[in-house]
Amino acid sequence: MEKLQQLYEGKAKKVYATADENLYIVSYKDDATAFNGLKKGTIAGKGVINNRMSNMLMQMLEQHGVPTHFVRELSDRETLVKKVSIVPLEVIIRNISAGSFAKRYGVEEGIVFDAPTIEFSYKNDDLGDPLLNRYHALALKLATPEEIDTIERYAFKVNEVLKAYFLDLNITLVDFKLEFGRLPDGTIVLADEISPDTCRFWDKDTGEKLDKDRFRRDLGGVEDAYQEVMRRLTGKQGNRPTNRRE
Ligand code: TMP
Ligand code: ASP
Repeated sequence: MEKLQQLYEGKAKKVYATADENLYIVSYKDDATAFNGLKKGTIAGKGVINNRMSNMLMQMLEQHGVPTHFVRELSDRETLVKKVSIVPLEVIIRNISAGSFAKRYGVEEGIVFDAPTIEFSYKNDDLGDPLLNRYHALALKLATPEEIDTIERYAFKVNEVLKAYFLDLNITLVDFKLEFGRLPDGTIVLADEISPDTCRFWDKDTGEKLDKDRFRRDLGGVEDAYQEVMRRLTGKQGNRPTNRRE
């Protein structure tokens, strides 16, 4: 399957048409932005890591009953996905206070919640992705009540599965952002990516940040952090290079 015309270029990915009208190719870039594009940079090797990590996690989520856009990994940076129209909601699940939650409510980072929280923001760069609730999303006709129910159910399921999975890698899943899409028949599936760009990962023992916060907050060691998460993931899968001498 090869790339035809480019349909879209986002901050971290490009999307291409294919000869099959129901399939797209996404291509992951090393470009990184933060604060709605105000901060720009490059994270060497990020595209390769995010592509592979996202694909591994989506395949695992499928096995746990969460449908996704994933079809097949084509190369280091490129993946064949089902064509979806993205529901313009960023769906954020939090297990521990951090980032905009800590700032908004004036609390420290690191408070472990009794139960995960969910919040939505309106995916709209011009408006800076404003926070909204279910009623606002319905008023703006961003999704139907049934779609929002499905999205919430899948999002909490993703949290359950990923939290346990990362714990096994000695990583605390602090929070993450998901995006969902509609297939041509209206079915809701998980889309976009799941990566250190879209999740907060803290080392369980040291609390060290292993995600894009290293870039957002100029903490250094950005590339190393992405590689460390990938190393733990592939170690678990037994996907070590086959030509490696023991
Ligand atoms: P926040 O605390 O800044 O709201 O971020 C919550 C989670 O969402 C965090 O894991 C990072 C992720 N995220 C994105 O994937 N894209 C974004 O544009 C933002 C602001 C956050
Ligand atoms: N990628 C997002 C942006 O540029 C923000 C982020 O992930 O912090 O706005």
